Formats: sequence, structure tokens, C-alpha cells
Amino acid sequence: MHNNMKKHLVVLTGAGVSAESGLPTFRDANGLWMGHDVYEVASPEGWKKDPALVLDFYNQRRRDVAKVSPNEAHLAIAELQQQYKVTVITQNIDDLHERAGSKNVLHLHGEIFTMRSEKDDTALYNIKGDIHLGDKARDGHQYRPHVVWFGEQVPNILRARDIMADADIFVLAGTSLQVYPAAGLIDYLDEQVPKYIIDKNPPFTAPHHNFYPVKGTATEGMKELLKILSENG
Ligand code: APR
Repeated sequence: MHNNMKKHLVVLTGAGVSAESGLPTFRDANGLWMGHDVYEVASPEGWKKDPALVLDFYNQRRRDVAKVSPNEAHLAIAELQQQYKVTVITQNIDDLHERAGSKNVLHLHGEIFTMRSEKDDTALYNIKGDIHLGDKARDGHQYRPHVVWFGEQVPNILRARDIMADADIFVLAGTSLQVYPAAGLIDYLDEQVPKYIIDKNPPFTAPHHNFYPVKGTATEGMKELLKILSENG
């Protein structure tokens, strides 16, 4: 509990939260990884082998995100800021949490509307349109999407662990918990903290206790959770 009396509610989200906005998840039936070779489009090796293919993949994802809007789940998470100090830790590279009004959003796997020099992951630039082969950053190197690829470090993981350890209430929404180090974040939660899972097929979370599955879609589940929290506080 904090001296400003607002409990710290931490939400860890994945692609399932944006599914009802019309963005595909990764591992569901029509998921992105069903139609693409992960290592061709989301690894340093794939980038070295065929950067144009990688740029096309993320340019298309950027267009898709620009076309959709936050759904009721994103809006409900933002609404919780009225009663709680809310921190959203997301694996998503879309900006739907921010567009829904969430103020404290930590992206673990990058952001689709940001690009960077392929040689310097601290030189970040906004991007709304497409990145083309030959587009160079100030350091003279090719621009690439500011997305964490398989095999790359997750720079925000230490901050995320500290946030998890500070949670009074935890919500896991729309993630299959199959990708590390993000999936290991639940190990940093205090055992006593109430933990809610919102997912169509809740992922495996043993040996953790106090996990309350709220089975259903993200929009239904968040509505249900708002009720539960208003009763339990
Ligand atoms: N409502 C709630 N949950 C849903 C919905 C929905 N409408 N649709 C799908 N889900 C759930 C699925 O049951 C699954 O548990 O969302 C989860 C999506 O899992 P993944 O596709 O594996 O996505 P995610 O967990 O976010 O992937 C993690 O993997 O590929 C990398 O970097 C990428 O950030 C991504 C990471």
C-alpha cells in the first residue's frame, strides 16, 4: 500500500487484448506466425538476409495499426486509472493502450510507430508511413523498426520486474506467456497479491497462487473484472 492510498494495479498484456480491434495475434489459428516464418521477419539473421522483406512485414503492420482503434478492453484498463495507480506492461508494439488513455505504458517488445538506426538502439525516431531500403538515420545507417526481435535483448525488462514487485493487484490479459523474458515476469509478483487472468484460453501459470481466471474475451473479461474489483476493492 502507498501513502497516496491508491493501490498499484499492474496489467501485463499481449496480442489477445488487441485482437478485438482487428489486429491478429501471433499463435492463434489465424495468427501472424501461422503465415510468416518468424526468423525471416523477426530476427537479426532475417534482417541481414533480406531487410526488404522485414521492412515490408512491419510496414504492413504499421498500416494495419493505423487503421484500427482501441477496443473496450483498452478503454476499461484506462478507466481503472480513476481508482488505481495503473501501470501497463505490454508486449504489444501497437499504440492502442495510449490511444485509449493509459498514461503509464511500458513497451517490452518495441513500438511500431518508432524506428531506429540499425546500429544504434538509442537513436529513436517517430515514423507514421513506410520505412524503405536506403532510408538512413543521422549516423548514416539504415533505419529499422524499433521492435525487439527474437534473440535480441529486452531493454525494459529490469524496469518491468521492479514494477511487478511493486504491484498490489495484478492482471494478465491476452498473452500466451510463451515468450521469455516477458513470461517470467509473474515470478516477480508478491505471492499474496491477487492475480486475475483474462484470456479465451488462460495460459498455464503454476506454481503461482491466488490466480483468478476470468475466462472470456478481453472486452468481456475486463467488464467482468471491473465488477469484481468494485466489489473487492
Ligand atoms: N480476448 C482474450 N484473449 C485472447 C483473444 C481475445 N479476443 N484472442 C486471443 N486471445 C489470447 C490467446 O488465447 C492467447 O493466450 O491471447 C493470447 C495471444 O497469445 P500470442 O499470440 O502468443 O501473443 P503474445 O502472448 O502477445 O505473444 C508474445 O511473442 O511473437 C512474439 O513479440 C511477439 O509480443 C509477442 C510475443
